[in-house]
Amino acid sequence: MLSEKQKPPDLLIFCKWVVLATTAAVVGGAYVSAHDPVGKVTWDREIAPIVQARCVSCHAPGGQAPMALTTYEEVRPWARAIREEVLARRMPKWHIVRGYGDFANDRSLSPFEIALMTAWVDGGAPRSLPNTSPRTATAPPPRLPAPFVPPSKTRTATIPCTAERLPAGHVLGFTPMLAHGGSLRIDVARAGFEEPLFWLRDFDVDAAETYWLRTPIDSSETSGIEMTFTGSDCRVTVILAARTGKS
Ligand code: HEC
Repeated sequence: MLSEKQKPPDLLIFCKWVVLATTAAVVGGAYVSAHDPVGKVTWDREIAPIVQARCVSCHAPGGQAPMALTTYEEVRPWARAIREEVLARRMPKWHIVRGYGDFANDRSLSPFEIALMTAWVDGGAPRSLPNTSPRTATAPPPRLPAPFVPPSKTRTATIPCTAERLPAGHVLGFTPMLAHGGSLRIDVARAGFEEPLFWLRDFDVDAAETYWLRTPIDSSETSGIEMTFTGSDCRVTVILAARTGKS
């Protein structure tokens, strides 16, 4: 004899359960795919901090970019375009060839940040979730790396793009000055190897900036540099650590 527990469920209850489970699976499935792979993404929680850290330096009134992206109202009409630009990695603008050299002030989005921005647009670009505020949300928002702060004690030496050696000292970064649209690649010879250091393409005269090496180079450990460039009038201002003491 079957015990009370093992009895087959009443057919009506069983049918109700099937209907409920199916509905939940369909609704749940649709919900997850609209927000895949990172859950419910909102402007207030995830997107505003990323835009603040990665876009506003140019996308602010008077900035390099044609439109401001400082508030939800300003950003919302651009949601589709933003999705396209970040997926194609055209934004944030960064003229360095990715993977060639390593820079402390690289403002490229991480794959996770790209996934968040894409999921946000795909989910309808909401400002916030109903009945939630950034403070009542359960999971912590994604952490962004601390903004890069350039060293304060530096000196500079400007070299032409025909130079074969780095200036003496600890090389912290470069400020290239090329013809508009020009490109410059620098490889450095160290311990018998050529190392990729820097490759800038499609130079924009109005957007000249300093590229800070993540790992400074002691030029006494290098035996030379090789610079390849296009366009006339190519110079590089090398940023060096300030000399300390008497030396
Ligand atoms: C270094 C400056 C800079 C940064 C940082 C930057 N942008 Fe831009 N952005 C520009 C400029 C300049 C334009 C104008 C079009 C061009 O020159 O390509 C632009 C254009 C755009 C456009 C319009 C593209 C179109 O359809 O014509 C979008 C969308 C955009 N940016 C999104 C972003 C987002 C999102 C970020 C941050 C994740 C960002 N940008 C960071 C400089 C920048």
